[in-house]
Formats: sequence, C-alpha cells, structure tokens
Amino acid sequence: MSLEESPSGAAYESLGADDSVLTFRKSEQKRGTMGRGNRSHLILIWIVGLCIGVGVGVLIGWFSSQAKFPDEEAYNLWRQALTEEDAQKISKLLIDELKADNIKENLRYLTSRPHLAGTPADKENAEWVKDRWIEQGLDSANVIPYKVLLSYPNVDKPNYVYILNGNGSVYFQSAREEAPLKQGDLKEGTVPPFNAYSANGTVTGELVYVNYGRIEDFQKLTGELNIDLTGKIAIARYGKIFRGDKAEEAAAFGAVGLILFSDPADYAVESDLGVYPDTWYLPETGVQRGSLYSYQSVGGDPLSPGYPSYETAYKTSEDAAGLPTIPVQPIGYGDAKMILEQLAGPKAPDEWQGNIHNLTYNLGPGYVGGRTVKLEVNTHNEERFTYNTIGIIRGSIEPDRYIIAGNHRDAWVYGAVDPSSGTAALMEMSRAMGKLVKDGKWRPRRSIVFASWAAEEYSLIGSTEWVEEFTKNLGSRTVAYLNIDISVEGNYTFRLKSTPNLYEAVFSATKNVPDVPFPGHSSTVYDTWLDRTGKGGDRPSVRNIGSGSDYASFLGEIGVPSVDLRYTFNSDLGLSSYPLYHSMYETFFLVSEIMDHSFEYHLAVTRVWAELARSLADSLILPIGVVDTAEKITGSIATLKDFYEDQMAEQGITWDTIESASSNLTTAAKAFESNVADMEKNDPFAVRRVNDQLMQFERAFIDPLGLPGRNLQRHVVFAPSSKDAYKGDAFPGIVDLMFDINNPEGDVSDDWEALKQHMSVVAFTLQSAASTLKDVDILHRD
Ligand SMILES: *[C@@H]1O[C@H](CO)[C@@H](O)[C@H](O)[C@H]1NC(C)=O
Ligand SMILES: *[C@@H]1O[C@H](CO)[C@@H](O)[C@H](O)[C@H]1NC(C)=O
Ligand SMILES: *[C@@H]1O[C@H](CO)[C@@H](O)[C@H](O)[C@H]1NC(C)=O
Ligand SMILES: *[C@@H]1O[C@H](CO)[C@@H](O)[C@H](O)[C@H]1NC(C)=O
Ligand SMILES: *[C@@H]1O[C@H](CO)[C@@H](O)[C@H](O)[C@H]1NC(C)=O
Ligand SMILES: [Zn+2]
Repeated sequence: MSLEESPSGAAYESLGADDSVLTFRKSEQKRGTMGRGNRSHLILIWIVGLCIGVGVGVLIGWFSSQAKFPDEEAYNLWRQALTEEDAQKISKLLIDELKADNIKENLRYLTSRPHLAGTPADKENAEWVKDRWIEQGLDSANVIPYKVLLSYPNVDKPNYVYILNGNGSVYFQSAREEAPLKQGDLKEGTVPPFNAYSANGTVTGELVYVNYGRIEDFQKLTGELNIDLTGKIAIARYGKIFRGDKAEEAAAFGAVGLILFSDPADYAVESDLGVYPDTWYLPETGVQRGSLYSYQSVGGDPLSPGYPSYETAYKTSEDAAGLPTIPVQPIGYGDAKMILEQLAGPKAPDEWQGNIHNLTYNLGPGYVGGRTVKLEVNTHNEERFTYNTIGIIRGSIEPDRYIIAGNHRDAWVYGAVDPSSGTAALMEMSRAMGKLVKDGKWRPRRSIVFASWAAEEYSLIGSTEWVEEFTKNLGSRTVAYLNIDISVEGNYTFRLKSTPNLYEAVFSATKNVPDVPFPGHSSTVYDTWLDRTGKGGDRPSVRNIGSGSDYASFLGEIGVPSVDLRYTFNSDLGLSSYPLYHSMYETFFLVSEIMDHSFEYHLAVTRVWAELARSLADSLILPIGVVDTAEKITGSIATLKDFYEDQMAEQGITWDTIESASSNLTTAAKAFESNVADMEKNDPFAVRRVNDQLMQFERAFIDPLGLPGRNLQRHVVFAPSSKDAYKGDAFPGIVDLMFDINNPEGDVSDDWEALKQHMSVVAFTLQSAASTLKDVDILHRD
C-alpha cells in the first residue's frame, strides 16, 4: 500500500471539509473489492490513522494560537515591542531640533507676496508645501483640489462709500485701497478691502449708527432709542462678534446696506503710543477684510453643504446658499470719521461712543443739511479651484491611527500673522519630525498627518471639504486634530481653546517647553500661562472651542477631540483682535520688527505643537482625559440650570434626567480611568481596546440628526453659538432655544416643545457616552 492510498490521510482530511469525506468514501469503495482479511486490517489502520489525524489537528491549532512563536521568550519580546514607551528621549530631541531662524525664513518666504485663495499664488504655495514635505522626509504628500464658491471685488469697478450732496454730486468718496506706509506694503495682487460674499448692488439713503451690530444693539436701537432701520444704511463698528452675524442681523432689522469700520477704541488702544509702522496699532487707513458667510450652521463650500465639492457633485443654487442679502463694505477709521461726522439725530449712548478723535457719535438717521450716503458694492461670487496639501509620516505600529496637525495657508493679503505665522510653524515642525525619521532616530507609533488648508478665510472651506470627503476614514481613525491658525498674535501668554479631554495633554506639553526668557525670569510655557491667566488657582484658563477656524468640521461634524493653540496679547488691553487683523499691514516687517523680534514666541508655540503631536502619536495609552470632559459637562449644566431653572420650572421642565445622566457619566469616567491606571500594559490588544474607547469617546457626543435647526452641527455639548460664530457655547441647543423663547417673534409654544425634546436628547447622549466607557458586556441597562 503506497502512502498516497493510506486512509489515515483521508481521515485527517475528512476532519476538515465535506468533499474530503467524499474522497475517502470513494477510495473505500475501491478498496471494497479486496479480500475479507484485508478489510479488518484496514479498519484497524483507519482507527490508528484517525487518532494521529486528530492529534495533528490539535497540534496545528495549538501552534496557530501561539502564532509564529516557537517559545515563550519570543512571544514576550513581541509583546514588549508593541507596548514599549520611549518618550522622554524623543521629546527632547524634537524640541531641540526646532529652530527660531527657520520659522523666520519660512515666514519671510510666505509673506513675500499676497496669497489669496483661488489665485495663482494659492496653487503655487500648495505645490511649494508639497515639495518641501517630500524633501523633508515625509512618507507622502499630495495636493488636493476643490472647485468651490469664492468671492472677489471687481477690478474695473471698485467698491466705494460716498457722501452725496443734496444735488447728487459727490462730497466724499472712501479710499479705494490702503495707503502704503512702508516700502513694500503694497504689491501686485493685493486685493482691495472687501467683505467676501457680500451681495452686489448700489444703495442710497440715510445712515444710522448701530454700535457693534449685535442683536442687543439692534434691539436697543429700534426699541428704547426708537429709531426705525427700515430702508436705511447701517454703519457698525467691527468687534465683539463675527462680522457675518452683524450683516445677518442688520438685514433682519430692515437695513438695505451695511458699512463696517474698525474703531480706535477696539483696534488702536494706547493711541498715545502711535500706530503702524511705529507700533502694531491700526492706522486710520487700515481696513479689516473678511468673510460674511455665517458658518454656525455649516462651513465649507456654500454650494455643497455636508458633502465634498467634487467637480461632478450636485451644487445648490446661490440663492439657496444662505449668503448675505445686502451689500456690505469695510472702511478704515479715517474714512469713518468723515462719514460719521455730520450724522444727525440724538447723541448715541455713552457705551456706544467710540474713540475716533474729536468725534461725537450720533445715531442718525441721515445728515444735517440733507446729504445722503451711497454704498456701491460690485463684489461677485465665482467658482474657482483652491488646494489643500496633505502629508503623512506613517506610524510604525498603529499607522491606521491619525494625529492631524493643520493650519490654513490662504491669506487676505500677506497674512504675516493670519495665517502665515502658523504656516511658518507647521513647515518647521514637519522639517524637524521628517529629519528625525530620515536620520533613523524616530518613527512615531501612530501616523502624523500634516494639513495645509485652502480657503479657510472664506468659510473654513478646505478643511471642511476634506473632512466631508474622507469622513468615514477620519471618523473611525482620528485620535485628535491639532489646529494652529495664527501662531503668534501677541507676546503675553499662551492661549488654548480645547475639548476638555485634551486639557491634560496640552498642560504636559507646555510643561515640557521652555518659555521665552525675560530678564531675571526663566520658566516653561505652562508657568507663564498659569501665572498670567490662572487667577491664583491651579490651572491656567482654557476657552471653549467653537468655530472660527479649521477644527470646526472635525469637532462639529465627526466628533474628533480638537485644540487650537496660539500665543496671545493681554486681554486687559480691551482689543477686539490683534490690531492689524486682515489688513494689508500684516507684513513680515510687522512680525519681525515689532511683534516678535527673535521669533522666540513662534518657537515656543511650534515646540508645544510638536510635543503635543508627539505625545499623542507615541504614548502607549492615549493622553485623553475622560474625567475632564465629564467634569466640564457637570459644571456647564450647573451654570445653565442656575440661569434657566425657574423659567423652565413654570413649564414643568426639570433638569433631573440630565443631571442623573451627567452624574452617571462622571462615575463611568472615573471608573474607566482607574481601570486603565491599574491594567497590565503589556497586552497589545488590551491597550488597543482602551485606546479605541478613548479615541471614540468624543464621537459619543455626536447626534447624527444635528442640533435643533442646524443639521450639520452635530456635537451636542460644544458648537459655535448661533448668534456669534466665533464663540463656543456649551449645550448650544439649549442656549439657542432659550434665546428664541426669550426673544419671541410670535408664539413660542413650539420652542418649548423643541426644548423638551432636545433636553431628552442631551440626557440620552450623556448616558450613551457613559456606556462607551464600560466593559464589552454592557449591552443592557444597569
Ligand atoms: C451741488 O452742491 C454742492 C454743495 O452744495 C455744490 O458745491 C455743487 O456746486 C453743486 N453742483 C451742482 C452741479 O449743482
Ligand atoms: C481735535 O481737535 C483739537 C481742537 O480743535 C485739535 O487741536 C486736534 O488736532 C484735533 N485732533 C485730531 C486728531 O484731529
Ligand atoms: C450681481 O449679483 C447677481 C446675483 O446675485 C448676478 O446675477 C450679477 O451678475 C451680479 N452683478 C455683477 C455686476 O457682478
Ligand atoms: C511684545 O509685543 C509688543 C507689542 O507688539 C511689542 O511692543 C514688544 O516689543 C514685544 N516684545 C518682544 C520681546 O518682542
Ligand atoms: C443613571 O444610572 C442609574 C443607576 O444605574 C439609573 O437608574 C439611571 O436611570 C441612570 N440615569 C439615566 C438618565 O439614564
Ligand atoms: Zn486665519
């Protein structure tokens, strides 16, 4: 009997698959032609064979459970390799590798010409970033185009604000562009001051001063001050809230046009010190550009809400895109003085008086002596290409986990502060990380993704379109999004906006980075930050993260833990932003000669960014704090409850369920953190399991149906305030509904009903977030 015919082989096979049983039967039949004695012999062999077969099967099973490990030592080495932490050495190498001079040279290059979204310089810079990243040693880098709706003034027909005499002749005309104050201030490609997405059109009429153009200003004006805005042109000062919200409210209160100006009270405080180019304060010729698109509901291409702007994608009509309905134009305070000077009507309230020299601010309407204002805006919308650049350093052990560091690249003009101070930092961070990888000194455990966003200034467009395009990958794989828009807007203190689960990670990073030393004082970034904002407590101050930069879609659409980092000025100055914000005077000169001579503040912020990315990429257990989130939620609920409890009680609404869910969340978060602290860290699968819980925790606050009336703002706890897109509110759904109830435009019974439903959704969301922190068998109520 040859070995091939041995039934033992067939018996063994028959343990596996049905057709091998068939094979065996066939061969048995064939053998059936043999004699009797042979048959009993065969049965014996068959039984022995069966036993051997089963034994081999068991052995194979045993070996495969010990996959490829001939002995326990090799198995332990494997586990060790996957669960090792080597943080401190790399942290120091990385921090030391970053250089202020490189950041300075990056900024010099980036500010050498205007680089507005949708212009040739936009594309060239996107390619420049890609080429640098490849050169620096990233594993790959790509330029990703999107065709989106942008907005530009008309080169041949400039926008103007005029004062007309009674007979219609021009008495005054606003400046077409900002006057060059230093050599090199005005270069080809400088876009004149305008507000993106303004309606086009020419309106003539009486002027009314509306302070900052907030809802409360309009309410006071039309109520207590008894001035009707219908058919009038409004003039508002910049500051306090997002400019798009001013335009929206002006139109809602009946204005047919809006003029925006920067008041010295908000942009040239300490006026005795002088203005640019002697100081960083706004001169009278400076004008703030900026978009009017109200992205509290949704950012991104106005024509493709919720979906990526592929060329073939369905685009809504401009009429349906929620763009401003009235013409809007910004001017400087030199021109504003002319325009406000002869305004008729009563003197504006004291707190409405700005700080233009020798000017008493009256309310209007109209001028003494019958002059009128004419506002001519020829700004138009246009679909153009704009470009993201995305680069990656692949992780060594968990390449499918992303730490994303992003900054937008487009600027209104030179953008030396916004955003090129951030781009200069991004390019130095990528260089340093690429170098450690190229030199074989480091490869992060998880992937680090670098993003250079397009057209942020218009409506957070590049980041939003990309998040929408790769929503499935990003939603399931992103650990954190780390944004820097502006890296240095002042030299007083570090400033953080963050989801609470990243507070501790940022605190640790800032404790590892030395701050700019000043005479007799050297400290870490954390020390100065705590000292200057901590109010004597044990934590520096942190702001809620709302909107206003590229983290918005990461947090609001897909629930990725996010931070926004920068160095800022002293808020006691009472500035609305750094003074030269979005003006042509944001130049290399401003940054290198006035704001940060040695680029040390830029260096400090870049180091914090890099160290934070490294710690999230390399730490064995992700530095994500679930208890911090639970405690922040508890605090926010207490504040809101205090505020609204009595009014809600009249409607029979209580906070009991939300408070119970919030307290359950705190309990679950504390139990989770103590389990993680006690767990064996040398089991790679156990580590991955808790890291997935940590990574996904923020997603638990996403409601797929969105906030009331805002279906693409899906984060139930943090979202931009719907009255001011810059501001982050906790529990924005509750705040907005209570606002509508307290500022009724008719019957509010629907609002109360919506509030009851929403509060139930909030309670459910908190309870469901708690359940994600429990062990795998929590598929029942406990
Ligand atoms: C219009 O009125 C202005 C100011 O009152 C005057 O200076 C100008 O000469 C007038 N122009 C015409 C064409 O009447
Ligand atoms: C304000 O008015 C005073 C007195 O008329 C004048 O001396 C001063 O130059 C004016 N200041 C400015 C900034 O126009
Ligand atoms: C003004 O806007 C409308 C659409 O809002 C457009 O049809 C028209 O062409 C624009 N006019 C100019 C001069 O850009
Ligand atoms: C800090 O900023 C202020 C205002 O721009 C500037 O006057 C000062 O020189 C800066 N200090 C340093 C050390 O750069
Ligand atoms: C909180 O947990 C308790 C105890 O498990 C449970 O009875 C209660 O229903 C939970 N609260 C909510 C809002 O689900
Ligand atoms: Zn910016």
